[in-house]
Amino acid sequence: MNPQKDINRIVDRAGQVLMNTYARIPVAFEKGQGCRLWDQEGRVYLDFLAGIAVSALGHSHPKVVETLKGQAERLLHTSNLYHIENQIALAEQLIEHSFADKAFFCNSGTEANEGAIKLARRYSSERYGPQKTTILCMINSFHGRTLGSLSATGQEKFQKGFGPLVPGFSFVPFDDLVALDENWDDKICAVLMEPVQGEGGIRVPDKAFLKKVKKRCQERNALLILDEVQTGLGRTGTLFCHEQFETQPDIMTLAKALGNGLPIGALLATNEVAAAFQPGTHAATFGGNPLVTAVAGTVLSIILGEGFLPGVRKTGIYFQNQLLGLKEEFPQVLDVRGMGLLLGIALNRPGKPIVDACLQKGFLINCTQDTILRFAPPLIVEPEEIDALIKTLRALLKEMN
Ligand SMILES: Cc1ncc(COP(=O)(O)O)c(C=O)c1O
Repeated sequence: MNPQKDINRIVDRAGQVLMNTYARIPVAFEKGQGCRLWDQEGRVYLDFLAGIAVSALGHSHPKVVETLKGQAERLLHTSNLYHIENQIALAEQLIEHSFADKAFFCNSGTEANEGAIKLARRYSSERYGPQKTTILCMINSFHGRTLGSLSATGQEKFQKGFGPLVPGFSFVPFDDLVALDENWDDKICAVLMEPVQGEGGIRVPDKAFLKKVKKRCQERNALLILDEVQTGLGRTGTLFCHEQFETQPDIMTLAKALGNGLPIGALLATNEVAAAFQPGTHAATFGGNPLVTAVAGTVLSIILGEGFLPGVRKTGIYFQNQLLGLKEEFPQVLDVRGMGLLLGIALNRPGKPIVDACLQKGFLINCTQDTILRFAPPLIVEPEEIDALIKTLRALLKEMN
């Protein structure tokens, strides 16, 4: 074997030069195709995580590769000092298919949320005065690692040691309208939430929750910001998850699947709200450059193509039913959660041993909140691939009995 490909050597090199921010699994992928990944030794894996809900079209999608190559040969970057036609076209596409009238592009989910927080505060302070700047967030939420988004994240484990955090965020339990009402005050300018909590354990709220929160926001001169970084772009079976809750935000953030692996984030808003940003108020050097917006345009066209989203819904139901079968069979499975192809099972014990065993058997899944196994495969996953995972999970759960 090529000693350069020895995983122990790779792990050792990583330890020498990379900051120790990730508890990385000892595997290094070299190639991907559809739902399959090949590691440094040529072993093949079925990917049920898609780079944490990013590679929605799978790996090396031919149309994505073609767009990427073609654009790379023409132009990568110019800055937002000039007009970028690919960026305009992507905004037009997103706007045509959403509540929004205007878009702003950045490079990641956390950066999109920073933009959303800034936009909501500026809109509100211009309109209602400088006191109305608190963002009401949800316990167990996840909005990113930069200081503003981290301050909006309702999980202390991510915040520990990074204080002082940004002031002006308050928290209520997710899916609890009574708590939301009890904790409301006049300083609240916006509610920021994920429609389904992803990192928080694939928590789906009551069907009416979002609608009721929006109504409260409208009654109390506050904005609803939906973080669809994980749930957006087909992941839950509709282009945006909030469509299934029959309500619309005033601001929405996107990232992950939009670039299918290229870093891009987006902030969408209504005309009225977006008007709070004027030249000089917000910017991102790389944001929406010709390359990423060309690729995102292709990704979006494929997701919006005929039959794609109904296919996600169909496969999602199939997958969910298979997981429900495991729940019936095994008392270790407490719950099956999620929507579309963002699914999870809650175990009565830590999930890491199953994640590790799945890896050994050639399946990539992960675990959130210690006991929730998370599945977020490419949206093109086939029933046979799901069957293969279920067979493995069944065998592992049997061993755990
Ligand atoms: C709902 C949500 N918001 C924001 C983020 C942060 O995105 P990024 O890692 O691109 O900054 C994530 C990442 O997992 C997320 O799930």
